[in-house]
Amino acid sequence: MNRIKDIANALEKGRAIFDEVMNMKAVPEYAVDELYSPGAGPDTRVEVSQAKGTVTSSDNLEYMEYLLKRKKMTGKIQLIYVDPPFFSNSKYQASIRLESDKLGKSPIIKTGAYDDTWGDSLEQYLTMLTVRFMLMRELIADTGCIWVHLDWHGSHYVKLILDEIFGYDNFVNEVVWTYKSGGASRKSFARKHDTLLMYSKTKKYKFNPIKEKSYNRDMKPYRFKGVEEFKDEKGWYTMVNMKDVWSIDMVGRTSRERTGYATQKPEKLLERIVESCTEEGAICGDFFAGSGTLGVVAEKMGRSWIMCDEGNVAIASQIERLCGIRKEDGSFCRPFSVCRIARVPDEAVSRLVICSEDMGVLRIRDYVPDLISLSDADEEIALEYLKNDSGACVSFWSVDSNYDGRVHRANGIIDGNDFISLPEGNPHVIGYDVFGNRFCWERIV
Ligand SMILES: C[S@@+](CC[C@H](N)C(=O)[O-])C[C@H]1O[C@@H](n2cnc3c(N)ncnc32)[C@H](O)[C@@H]1O
Repeated sequence: MNRIKDIANALEKGRAIFDEVMNMKAVPEYAVDELYSPGAGPDTRVEVSQAKGTVTSSDNLEYMEYLLKRKKMTGKIQLIYVDPPFFSNSKYQASIRLESDKLGKSPIIKTGAYDDTWGDSLEQYLTMLTVRFMLMRELIADTGCIWVHLDWHGSHYVKLILDEIFGYDNFVNEVVWTYKSGGASRKSFARKHDTLLMYSKTKKYKFNPIKEKSYNRDMKPYRFKGVEEFKDEKGWYTMVNMKDVWSIDMVGRTSRERTGYATQKPEKLLERIVESCTEEGAICGDFFAGSGTLGVVAEKMGRSWIMCDEGNVAIASQIERLCGIRKEDGSFCRPFSVCRIARVPDEAVSRLVICSEDMGVLRIRDYVPDLISLSDADEEIALEYLKNDSGACVSFWSVDSNYDGRVHRANGIIDGNDFISLPEGNPHVIGYDVFGNRFCWERIV
């Protein structure tokens, strides 16, 4: 094991891949682009230009190449937050439940979400990150910044990579996020923090300081001249610029935010990042988006956002979460688009689900999703539910009443296995099951 060599090799290999990507003539195909409008009523079809966010199912390397070469996004992103695999040598799962009218909610079923296994090759892990950070640097605005979320497994090695790519002088902060969680070793202090490394692209970066309470010693007033002091139930305090150690609860088992995605991060953490580095309307990006916390927070805070993940469960979880957003003023998530990027367009084609159209109403029939990643016990539960109700694993679906053959413009989103009343003409249906498989239906004339 030679960690220093691993870092040097990763930088060299990552740069070679980056050069190759930037010089490549063939750009990934734009395969499917559909639009969701969770708040739209049944008579409203939204236009693609209204989308304020994009969920993309792809390897992020191809997606960033696509953004740079086809979408002309160079220098357009104000904030990139990424929470990549941590070099933890673990496999992560998502907890889901099936639902049927007859059986109610199922016990929790575990399905594979993503693997963070590199055969102990730090070089391989760092090479993967190096090329991606280089592409991210191209996408960030001169006034923008990047936050990289890691923990003790890899943060020290990744810091050196980031110093090389963004420049040691552009390192702004190491934020320590500390939390409570179960489990501790008897041979060390309990490891209860993650590390977030923040870099700017240039010295012109924008930063909005956030204030926090700082309690006076003994909680008593200081009465210094010109210093404003406040009092709450704990005692006297002043307001100071926020420090770089943040104590924020993890997403707990009973938290309303909880999606069941194993490594979901709390919205409060992301709120601070978005608030400190962006203004309303700015573009925020997350290329390892998981359950979609960055997009959800950016949406609630009136920013535009782009998210990418290569995992099916992650994409389904993001869409479901975004569709469920209710802002303080009662409004829904704004329309957002869902894309798939693939060199070979066919790679992105989804399964066709067997539906039955009966007297103008569409129902799901005989839908058996891919259950390979389930344990035997969980597969048994799933099959029991599917026997009773073939729509039990459907997360949601949406209908476009007048499909143009290319972009699905949703008229509205339907939860679970409710039926859809279909209009005449050219309706088109897209849906996701709880395992993240996408399905679709169109009328065969
Ligand atoms: C730690 S999780 C992100 C969790 C997220 N911050 C949240 O709050 O839910 C890392 C994610 O990176 C995704 N990922 C790993 N490698 C990827 C790649 N090459 N392209 C796209 N996504 C990738 C995984 O599928 C996983 O969902």
